[in-house]
Amino acid sequence: MSLNAVIFDLDGVICSTDRFHFLAWKELAGQLGLPFSEALNDRLRGVGRAESLELILAGCSRSFTPAQKAAMCEQKNLRYRQLLCQMSPADLSGEARGALLALRRGGLLLAVGSSSRNAPFILERIGLGGFFQVVADGSQIARSKPDPEVFLLAAKRLGQAPQRCLVVEDAAAGIQAAKAGGFWAAGLGAAASCPGVDFPLRSLAQLPALCAANR
Ligand code: BG6
Ligand code: MG
Repeated sequence: MSLNAVIFDLDGVICSTDRFHFLAWKELAGQLGLPFSEALNDRLRGVGRAESLELILAGCSRSFTPAQKAAMCEQKNLRYRQLLCQMSPADLSGEARGALLALRRGGLLLAVGSSSRNAPFILERIGLGGFFQVVADGSQIARSKPDPEVFLLAAKRLGQAPQRCLVVEDAAAGIQAAKAGGFWAAGLGAAASCPGVDFPLRSLAQLPALCAANR
């Protein structure tokens, strides 16, 4: 397999931001008189901001102009960023920290490939600003997952072919993106049973041994 690099999704893999997305979207949906549930929030994993809004508005009979939708995304994001300020290095689990350090000691190149435009801010908040060789995020791409663009960008900036990179994901859209780009895919949580997953994971702690066995 000759793995040289690991490209991590951020939200739901390195740290959990689910509860903040949930609160910010729920507030917006409430103002529009729309329902918003944990189940719908789960469907937004890995999906870009504007695409997420479309899924929330799918249940609404009113139509909105592109400017109104942009204002809704902006409002949600301002609230989301306010909530993200609660995050600190304590939001990086010992397990994630240990796995990242072990992979780096093992000589793997490490990158983030996230649909989120807030990825650099979140990495700073949890004490990982400057840790990764490459951070490819939602502000640098035209098409969000399940399109492979963000992972292809990360691999290119690492100087590695997709076949030399393992993508670690918690979302179906992310697994689809990894496979569409020609990457190896490790799935965490619900994504462990997604079609196409090469390595189902129970925990990030499994990664160093998995990578060492496939170098
Ligand atoms: C992904 C999250 O990482 O980023 C999605 O899983 C989110 O839930 C997407 O919609 C875009 O994030 P942001 O921070 O740019 O709104
Ligand atoms: Mg994710």
